Amino acid sequence: MLVSATEMLKAAVAGKYAVGQFNINNLEWTKSILQTAQENNSPVILGVSEGAGKYMTGFKTVSAMVSAMTEDLGITVPVALHLDHGTYDGAYKCIDAGFSSIMFDGSHYPIDENIEKTRELVGVCHSKGISIEAEVGAIGGEEDGVVGGGEVADPDECKMIADLGIDFLAAGIGNIHGKYPENWQGLNFDVLAQIKEKIGDLPLVLHGGTGIPADMIKRAISLGVAKINVNTECQLYFQEATRKYIEEGKDLVGKGFDPRKLLAPGCEAIKTIVKEKMELFGSIGKA
Ligand code: 13P
Repeated sequence: MLVSATEMLKAAVAGKYAVGQFNINNLEWTKSILQTAQENNSPVILGVSEGAGKYMTGFKTVSAMVSAMTEDLGITVPVALHLDHGTYDGAYKCIDAGFSSIMFDGSHYPIDENIEKTRELVGVCHSKGISIEAEVGAIGGEEDGVVGGGEVADPDECKMIADLGIDFLAAGIGNIHGKYPENWQGLNFDVLAQIKEKIGDLPLVLHGGTGIPADMIKRAISLGVAKINVNTECQLYFQEATRKYIEEGKDLVGKGFDPRKLLAPGCEAIKTIVKEKMELFGSIGKA
């Protein structure tokens, strides 16, 4: 059964660890992440961007697949199915499709409009037991065609959005999606501390988890980050393992062309990186 992310993230703030949001693209991704969470007794959040939702033919398909898979695999750890960087319309579609958590990303709207739309969606989500993440200060980099400039959120705006009753808050602190450039300045811990001071125990979300050094991750968790999103790193691990399989000519041996064999090394690689992140975030054994 899918659960909202509220309880697992409250527990994470109290226990000073973070729960990983791993983005899914297909059945293989979903299976690898769910199995890793179960094997390590860790709560987990499956993230679905609007682009990935479209790729998988729609949010209803995603929701049905994830629900059925948790049952068929006998998953007992808490699993939240979460819309990542949702638009206003996308949020409503996921609420209807049975997602247990959504992110409404109104960071590109003027703050008043972000507040108005977030407030409305908080009411709808909470009437259905769905958790809701909101965002202030766009995350930099590019994800599914959405480009942001590595912004840093205004702590006062964070407080205004937090006060709407959201369950967790994504605030830009110099983080970006995708690989970090050589000249990246690192996370802005001063702003993170100011935001934390204003919002108290509300769980904070760190987007762009790929490639952030371990010491920065640990410091961010100590300052109230309780959800960390990872997408690109799973893609890179999958790509590398798949490339190796083909370069070694394994697809040409026997039934090596069978998709279940061809995709197996990539699936194992996803399990490896997800476990590594769960260890770093401290969520192992916390289900
Ligand atoms: P990365 O692709 O950089 O890991 O970011 C993931 C993310 O923040 C999804 O919202």
